[in-house]
Amino acid sequence: MATPDLDLAVVWRRARAGRRAALAKACGAAPGLRVHDAMAGWGTDGLVLAALGCVVHMSECETLVHRLLGERVEAVAAHAKHTGAVTTACEDSRDAWAKATFDVIYFDPMFGPHPKSAAPAKRMRMLAKLARETSDAELVALIEAAEAQAKDRVVVKRRANGPRLGEPDWSVRGRSVRFDVYRSLAQRDPSR
Ligand SMILES: C[S@@+](CC[C@H](N)C(=O)[O-])C[C@H]1O[C@@H](n2cnc3c(N)ncnc32)[C@H](O)[C@@H]1O
Repeated sequence: MATPDLDLAVVWRRARAGRRAALAKACGAAPGLRVHDAMAGWGTDGLVLAALGCVVHMSECETLVHRLLGERVEAVAAHAKHTGAVTTACEDSRDAWAKATFDVIYFDPMFGPHPKSAAPAKRMRMLAKLARETSDAELVALIEAAEAQAKDRVVVKRRANGPRLGEPDWSVRGRSVRFDVYRSLAQRDPSR
């Protein structure tokens, strides 16, 4: 299958928006912050965080998506000496937690098609065909498990008007999406 238009310009544009951007604010992006991009897809969000100096590990469970993700990460690494460390693995996101410690665990599940929105970009249409979907029930279980693993917080991307899952501690609004932020158990109870 041909490599999709991986549009690296999107990464640079969002990285230039810097720490003020909603994703960066929600994650508390800063140099050296250890971020687990636990549903990596094409890796745009993780690469933006890496461009802000975060150390990012990307998990992607689908083999073909992971192969294309690897190509994209390599292409970015070739152009951006300043990008923070990025690693990728073809794995279920939970498997990464046994191998490393993360300050922030970030979930960006596939949204189903929006009834009113314009046709999505080609790369997102392709991802929709290849990627694993996640139900809200699965996501709730993942958030709870991640709250016990992250040192600082769990961040979940949702549609701007999508229902909140559980009880996020706060939210950061982007143009068409919302980032719900859950403090980790370690943050709630520092004696843990
Ligand atoms: C919406 S995409 C992520 C898009 C990404 N944020 C970006 O900027 O390109 C969600 C991805 O998560 C993957 N995924 C779903 N469940 C997963 C799991 N439990 N572990 C790892 N990857 C998962 C899907 O296959 C899909 O590629």
